Amino acid sequence: MKLSEFAQEILYGSSLSQKLGKVQLTDIVFDNFELESPPPTPSRAKALQFSDKQLKFPRGKTLNLDNKKAMALNSFANHELLATEMMAMALLRYPHHTEELRNFKRGVIISLLDEQKHFKLYQRRMNELGYEFGDFPLNDFFWRQNAKLKTPSQYLSVMSLTFEAANLDFAHYYSNIFKSFDDHKTSKILDIVYQDELTHVALGGNYLNRWRGDKSLWQYYLESLPWPLTPARSKGIHFKSDHRKKARLAPEFIESLTKYDDDFEVTSRKN
Ligand SMILES: [Fe+2]
Ligand SMILES: [Fe+2]
Repeated sequence: MKLSEFAQEILYGSSLSQKLGKVQLTDIVFDNFELESPPPTPSRAKALQFSDKQLKFPRGKTLNLDNKKAMALNSFANHELLATEMMAMALLRYPHHTEELRNFKRGVIISLLDEQKHFKLYQRRMNELGYEFGDFPLNDFFWRQNAKLKTPSQYLSVMSLTFEAANLDFAHYYSNIFKSFDDHKTSKILDIVYQDELTHVALGGNYLNRWRGDKSLWQYYLESLPWPLTPARSKGIHFKSDHRKKARLAPEFIESLTKYDDDFEVTSRKN
């Protein structure tokens, strides 16, 4: 299968079966194509459309209730689907005329296949609880950053070192909450997501280190983050520098991140 067909099927296919089709890295052949202009939104069937409704994420102490669990799982699954779509966009959007860029894209494909797997795990868990993905409103915050990601460095700064890095904190935190309610099934899914996410964050660190030139990784990351995103977005509830160490980010980078503070509400959210 051509790379362009693989990515377009995810971005322009509206059904979940088109977005989650089973493909392996070795099935994909790099071809030359040009994406004229990025689509304003990915195609999505009616039940999967984005909503403006602001749904409050359930509080940790309520996550023993099935409807709150389903609401959380719906949100986690939506992030996986958005990541899948944004990764497909990255595959279409950036050039791959060098072996390094093709290797970068191979890394993106491996992450994308993981995101599809994560989506299915969350979706299946929702189904076990008697819910369908899309039963709760789906937001498009991640997708709205897409238009600003003009280069692979911007893409990795936002996707890997911000959204996926924050997810290390979130996945670890919510795994423990579900464990405390003896919901080992949900907890285990979050553990799988956490382990895979370490490699997705490492991908970002690895390529940004190659491309940063004389700048420090921290400086390059700051310059690559499009407004209004700040490093605060890369911290989840109960930020832990340990997760970044496991993702092989450099100690100086982790130190700058640990010291960084602004008024972004999630990092100071009371739970
Ligand atoms: Fe994921
Ligand atoms: Fe990921």
